[in-house]
Amino acid sequence: MLKLGMVGWRGMVGSVLMERMLAEKDFERCEPLFFTTSQTGQAAPDIGRELPPLQDAHDLRLLADMEVIISCQGGDYTQAVIGPLRDSGWQGYWIDAASTLRMESDSLIILDPVNRSVIDAGLDRGIKNFIGGNCTVSLMLMALAGLFANGWVEWLTTMTYQSASGAGAKYMRELVAQMRYLGEGSAALLDDPATAIAAIDRQVTTDLNADDFPTPCFGAPLAAALIPWIDRPMENGQTREEWKGLVETNKILGRGEAPIPIDGQCVRVGAMRCHSQAFTIKLTGDIPLDELEAALGEHNPWVRLIPNTKAATLTELTPAKVSGTLSVPIGRVRKLNMGKDYLTAFSVGDQLLWGAAEPLRRMLEILQNRR
Ligand code: HSE
Repeated sequence: MLKLGMVGWRGMVGSVLMERMLAEKDFERCEPLFFTTSQTGQAAPDIGRELPPLQDAHDLRLLADMEVIISCQGGDYTQAVIGPLRDSGWQGYWIDAASTLRMESDSLIILDPVNRSVIDAGLDRGIKNFIGGNCTVSLMLMALAGLFANGWVEWLTTMTYQSASGAGAKYMRELVAQMRYLGEGSAALLDDPATAIAAIDRQVTTDLNADDFPTPCFGAPLAAALIPWIDRPMENGQTREEWKGLVETNKILGRGEAPIPIDGQCVRVGAMRCHSQAFTIKLTGDIPLDELEAALGEHNPWVRLIPNTKAATLTELTPAKVSGTLSVPIGRVRKLNMGKDYLTAFSVGDQLLWGAAEPLRRMLEILQNRR
């Protein structure tokens, strides 16, 4: 059985990964060893069988004994460990959620329902580093893969509505704390049906701008608001999140020589863990809407085409419906007024599942099946 090292399994992505691996019985098909950066010697997590205690995640000798390592520990850990580990001669497979190695020439970005052939070709030529993609990019590709697979995308813009979880666990707490602050501040006004809406609105605006309104993480109100900036600036005026759309999509699709132009604005909104995106797609021709819809909906078992009706949209195409599931609904599909080769669509996906954990465990499965 494959020797698997697990690092960073307790954080937010790591916990979701653990849940999925237990649900899919992944640990029954390998020999796992759990590592820690701070609690060496403590008990390993309960996976239903006897396990050695937690091992030191900086012990290169122990790490080098693993055939596969999955890390959700974060970029600083990857940066510190991967160089010395490879220098020591380790030939194992490194599967990572962090972005550190994503754009390296000896790494592939994994999203197997979309780029299984790129992954298989990489394995055949000896690639050993397999990195999960940016969540927004992975969810966009899960939704739109049917169009890419047919070569129908000339360029696209994606305008995003990204959840608090993409920023991290403490940001999710801050969002809920902001909601509580607003709810408590307006409770008395809200309870009185005679209160004029202008009074409630004034109270909310006052609270959003209050000195003690909780914003240490986001740096601005997100509840009853939004933040049109994610990650750090790039020199060309994009944010890094926006930059990833172009470079990661084309790397995932293996289109190094002929990249498809992709750009847009990335916006943080008050959703908990679902990223949503509105697309404008310039098609390579006037492809009939029914053919486009069929290609979108049939591409993989997780994408679901939602009819462009109010009832279906409200029931099926919202973060409330999708959160905690692997489903990637795509709806509001129609041609735009700009012309017959312009398509719009809207999709929602859980950024902790297809956006982070799921591609990692599926890569492990691909390695298990190759043995
Ligand atoms: N960078 C993403 C975000 C998260 O901030 O929403 C995961 O790739």
